[in-house]
Amino acid sequence: MKERSSFTGGMGFVIASAGSAVGLGNLWRFPYLAAQYGGGIFIFVYIILALTFGFALMTTEIAIGRKTKLSPIAAYKTLDKRFGFLGYIAAIVPAVILPYYCVIGGWVLKYMTVFIAGDGTAAAGDSFFGEFVGGTASPLTFFAVFLIATTLIIILGVEKGIEKVSKILMPLLILMTIGISIYIFTIPGAGEGLKYYLLPDFSKFSLKTICAAMGQMFFSMSLAMGIMITYGSYAKDEISLTKSTNQIEIFDTIVALLAGLMVVPAVYIFSGEAGLESSGAGLMFITLPKVFAQMAAGKIIGALFFILVLFAALTSSISIMEAVVSMIMDKLKLSRKMSALLVLVWAVILGVPSSLGNGPWASIKLLGMDFLTFFDFLSNSVLMPLVALFTCILVGWVVGTDTIVGEATKNGERLGRKTLYEVIIKYIAPVLLVVILVFYTLAQFGIIKY
Ligand code: ALA
Repeated sequence: MKERSSFTGGMGFVIASAGSAVGLGNLWRFPYLAAQYGGGIFIFVYIILALTFGFALMTTEIAIGRKTKLSPIAAYKTLDKRFGFLGYIAAIVPAVILPYYCVIGGWVLKYMTVFIAGDGTAAAGDSFFGEFVGGTASPLTFFAVFLIATTLIIILGVEKGIEKVSKILMPLLILMTIGISIYIFTIPGAGEGLKYYLLPDFSKFSLKTICAAMGQMFFSMSLAMGIMITYGSYAKDEISLTKSTNQIEIFDTIVALLAGLMVVPAVYIFSGEAGLESSGAGLMFITLPKVFAQMAAGKIIGALFFILVLFAALTSSISIMEAVVSMIMDKLKLSRKMSALLVLVWAVILGVPSSLGNGPWASIKLLGMDFLTFFDFLSNSVLMPLVALFTCILVGWVVGTDTIVGEATKNGERLGRKTLYEVIIKYIAPVLLVVILVFYTLAQFGIIKY
């Protein structure tokens, strides 16, 4: 049998996994959710979930990957034959996310080119975003470029493609994130914006806050989508899994917090609390360019910001695609190139409606949603909680948490939050996931209000 590809070492594994985790989730989703769900309280809930639930699930997924050295479909089945179905659900998640992720990646690419060309003020116009995403040729072209770039990196392979690209882009991403955050601090009025962003207002707490934070955590940490199992299967046996998991988890959370720091106080200063809360998903593409237009160094900061987002999106889209490609390679025994091309065709089939659903195909609705919103809902709110739930049942009640703890500590490491890990996987996570799945789905269909 051909030897499985692997990352060169602990550093390569951590950088690639952090590259996967840090993406549109951190830079686009986190700031707007924080803005919508009351700033500090959302952050507070998010951090608690990331350090408990996120940590437990990430440890589990990476350990399953490394232990079995298989991609998700086969990995779950190897742990217990009855859980083969879980591999298939886990396989569907990245396949559903990839197309729309690349559509949004295309939007980022468009904004980056506009800002680099010095036309940032045009992007601040009221109708700019709507006209762009509502078009046909332009958004589809940017989508295609982003998707092809992702595919090319995947074809280069784990070490020469994914690891190498992550090692170049991630340090640049860190530098830019810190640089822009420092600049935002120097804007007059930043203190007030910062307060709104960081201080929790418990009156804004509800079940909705937990649901939103939970979905965000899965998405941001690349959990319940087969990715961490896939990357774990490329991790060498001698690297410290506990240390790596901590580093990835902490890094992802810090970048999310910094992303909020770059965006929320700045928008607060220029458009106030109402502007923040009403922006929703348009925060990055509609509100933020208006903020850049009013800033002294807005053109440069805007260009740097969108370059940063593009890098983050690319290192994540490659991981989403790799999860699907590796499953096809393992299952159908096809070459990497052939598998990548198949996934590319799939991404076009779902990506085109995701893009056109904002314009010419806007009248077509799935459960009342446009294509992109529907795919996001299906993956984040239905399939990912399901994958997480069954993973917890499998590990907590069937194979036993010792299997995972044993894998994570097989080089003599200590799993710092071991008891916490066991309690979360066996009890807390399954209960919370069932509650969230039921409430969120009922709420989505208007059956209950919460
Ligand atoms: N973890 C990736 C992100 O945050 C998918 O965008």
